[in-house]
Amino acid sequence: MMENKIIKGFSKLNKEEKINWIIENYLDNDESQKDFLQSYWHQDPKTQQLHDEFIENTISNFYIPLGVAPNFKINDKVYCVPMAIEESSVVAASAKSASFWLNKGGFKANVVSMIKIGHVHFAWHGDYSKLIKFFERTKERFFEDTENLTANMRKRGGGILSLELINKSDLEPNYYQLMAKFDTCDSMGANFINSVLEQFAQTLKDELANDSSLYEAEQKVQIIMCILSNYTPECIVRSEVSCKIEELTQGTDMSAELFVEKFQQAVHIAQIEPYRATTHNKGIYNGIDAVVIATGNDFRAVEASGHTYAARDGQYRSLTDVEVKDGIFKFWIEVPMALGTVGGLTKLHPMVKFAYQLLGNPNATELMQITATVGLAQNFGALRSLVTTGIQKGHMKMHLFNILNQLGATDEEKKFFVEEFKTKTVSHKAVVELFEKIRAEKTV
Ligand code: MEV
Repeated sequence: MMENKIIKGFSKLNKEEKINWIIENYLDNDESQKDFLQSYWHQDPKTQQLHDEFIENTISNFYIPLGVAPNFKINDKVYCVPMAIEESSVVAASAKSASFWLNKGGFKANVVSMIKIGHVHFAWHGDYSKLIKFFERTKERFFEDTENLTANMRKRGGGILSLELINKSDLEPNYYQLMAKFDTCDSMGANFINSVLEQFAQTLKDELANDSSLYEAEQKVQIIMCILSNYTPECIVRSEVSCKIEELTQGTDMSAELFVEKFQQAVHIAQIEPYRATTHNKGIYNGIDAVVIATGNDFRAVEASGHTYAARDGQYRSLTDVEVKDGIFKFWIEVPMALGTVGGLTKLHPMVKFAYQLLGNPNATELMQITATVGLAQNFGALRSLVTTGIQKGHMKMHLFNILNQLGATDEEKKFFVEEFKTKTVSHKAVVELFEKIRAEKTV
């Protein structure tokens, strides 16, 4: 068995040394791995260096496809939306939904609110009423001490919106928070918020220490941590579609009434059944994450917030909802989403820059509208397939390409298989068997 080695100071090695060390210690001295990793480097060393410096210990690049979903009409503007995702069928489903709604008025989206939240979590021993009074006396100081940090954001129309003292000592002895709300304009704002919170913590420490009206024990505070919350229930975007119910099944042999009934049942199940709600929302994030990644935002933050929001009343539920009234079908999503169009990777990553150009350089509000809409479109596409043909038909068609690529099929062979499986069910076994047969017979 290969003995895996441990190393100190790995990060100090240069890229080549890192790769050599990995090959020596974990890859059986297989020198071809070096060429393999290098084959994924960018041809322009400067561009590669840019990518190398996004993270630590970079050895190569990890490709995922960048696709586009055209025909997204949102608030009367048509977008061709960039999506970075590895899962087949996602871009196709979004594009299909976008086209479906294009001639039915498109999507209407609006940002409900853009407030972000952060906390100084601290432990303090003393009479809470005294802490309240202390906070009232010193509150202005917290704003004054952060004026330098907030100057630029205030110029852009944002900054600190509010600061509150919160008592959490019923949940954890001596646990309190300073909870601040922020407007971070077009930036996601994580660095801004965290810097302000750390200054709040310093002010809290200093002001308590200097408050002679407090006992010695009350002059002390233990700052546990200062951090923004990725849960942003006040940074909400909504997108919706609507049409006459008979328009939903035009051109198909399904009755509109049956479609609507099953669609409503499917959404209702995702409202009441967490097992289904999880998959339902996962499908929504297939679309949202793909846009979030392509536009250089933090998909972990966006997802984490969405899942917490989905469970805000204590049970995990669907993020989309449906209503049918007076013959009109209305389907919508309401989802928290902290996105930025300035800062972070947005002006650095060449593909992200491209994505912004493709979208017409939207601001954060517009990007939130686009992204939520893709989530809604994705969910509409998934539910439409699920309650009609079933999901596997479309999925397996795309999966066919993955199987063929694994088998090393030529373009000619791929064309042949697409034709061949137009009417047949795709299964791994069926594809492999036919592939072996045509290779043996050299018929394609
Ligand atoms: C697959 O990635 C996503 C779906 O399962 C979503 C859904 O079931 O709603 C198709």
